Amino acid sequence: MQSACRAAREANMDPRKDRTPTPGTNDEPRDPARRRTMIAGLGAPIALSALAATATAQDDNAAAGIVDGQVAMVTGAARGIGRAIAVAYARAGADIVALDIADAEAYRDVLGYRLGSQAELDETAALIEAEGRQVLAIKADVSDAGAMRTAASEALKRFGRLDIVVANAGVGGGGPIHGVSDAHWKTVLDINLTGAANTMKATLPAMIERQSGRFIAITSVAGRMGAGGQADYGASKWGLVGLVKSAAIDAGPHGITVNAIAPTGVRTGIFGQLMDDTAWMAGFETFLNQMHTLPVGMLEPEDMTGAALFLASPAGQYISGAVIDMAAGMNARYTA
Ligand SMILES: NC(=O)c1ccc[n+]([C@@H]2O[C@H](COP(=O)([O-])OP(=O)(O)OC[C@H]3O[C@@H](n4cnc5c(N)ncnc54)[C@H](O)[C@@H]3O)[C@@H](O)[C@H]2O)c1
Repeated sequence: MQSACRAAREANMDPRKDRTPTPGTNDEPRDPARRRTMIAGLGAPIALSALAATATAQDDNAAAGIVDGQVAMVTGAARGIGRAIAVAYARAGADIVALDIADAEAYRDVLGYRLGSQAELDETAALIEAEGRQVLAIKADVSDAGAMRTAASEALKRFGRLDIVVANAGVGGGGPIHGVSDAHWKTVLDINLTGAANTMKATLPAMIERQSGRFIAITSVAGRMGAGGQADYGASKWGLVGLVKSAAIDAGPHGITVNAIAPTGVRTGIFGQLMDDTAWMAGFETFLNQMHTLPVGMLEPEDMTGAALFLASPAGQYISGAVIDMAAGMNARYTA
C-alpha cells in the first residue's frame, strides 16, 4: 500500500494547492459532505455538499432494519473499514462478532506499521453496543486456521448462527516484486489470502447447515489491475477474487452468496506513518482524484459500508461471484 502511494509521488504529481486544510491533518473537516466538497475543489461546492448530505440521509433510512435479527462476523474489526462495516451492520439490526488480531505490535517488524490494538477493538465493541446490539469481540489471527475455527465455534455458541461473514482483515504490501522480502511476501499472502480462506473454511459449514448465508471478502482495486510497487499485495488481492469466485460456485447450491468488494484508497491505518506525511497524502489524494471518474480523492471507511449492506440485504440475494468496485469510478479505466 505504501509503495503504491510512492508510485503516485514518483509520478511527480503536485499536491493540490487550491484547498485548505490539508488532508490527513487534524484541521481537515470530518463531516463527509464538507470533505467531499473540499476534495472536489472549488467547482460547485454548494451542490456537492447538498448531494452528499442527501445521500447520507438516504443511506441511513435505507439501511434501517435490513439485517434485523441476523448475526454478522467481521474480521479486522478493530478499526478502519472493518469497524465501519461492523457498526453499519449493527445500526441495520445485526448482532456482531468483531474479530481482530488486536495487537498493535503484531508483524510490526515485517510490515513497518502498527495493526489494530485491544483498545481499538474495545472501542468498536462499545460503538456496536451504542447501536443497541450485542457484540462478541474475539482476538484472533486470521492466518491461524485453528484460531479461526475456535472463533467460529465461540460465535456459534454465543449466537447460534452466522448469517453474514466479512473477511476484511488485511495488511499492506512490501514493494516491487524484485524488492519485496521473503518475510513480507509470506505475511501478506498468509493474512490477506489464506486468512480469508481460513475465515471461509471456519464459517461456511455453519451457513451450509442452515442452507443460507452471505460471505463478503474485501479485495482492492489492486486486485483488479496491476499494482506496481506492491506485488505481494496485488497478488493477494487478485487471489482473493479467484477464491471468491470459486467459493461462490461451491457455496451457491447451499443458498449462500459469496462476493467481493474492491475499495479504492480509503483513509485508514493501513497507510501507517504516511498518514502523518501531509505532503505525501496530498499527492496521493491528487493521484486518486485523477484516477477516479467522480470528483473525489481518498474515501472514508464509512463510504465502504453501502456495498456491504447491499450484499447482505434481501436485494442482494441473487448476486454471487461478483466484485463490486467501490472505487469512485476508477474501475471505468480497468474493467469492461
Ligand atoms: N485503506 C485502503 O485504501 C484500502 C483499499 C483497498 C482495500 N483495502 C482493504 O480493506 C481491508 C481493511 O483495511 P483497512 O484499510 O481498514 O486497514 P486497517 O489497517 O486500518 O485495518 C485492518 C484491520 O485488520 C486487522 N488485522 C490485520 N491483520 C490481521 C490478522 N492477521 N488477523 C486479524 N486481524 C488482522 C488490523 O489489526 C486492523 O484492525 C484490508 O483487507 C485492506 O487490504 C483497504
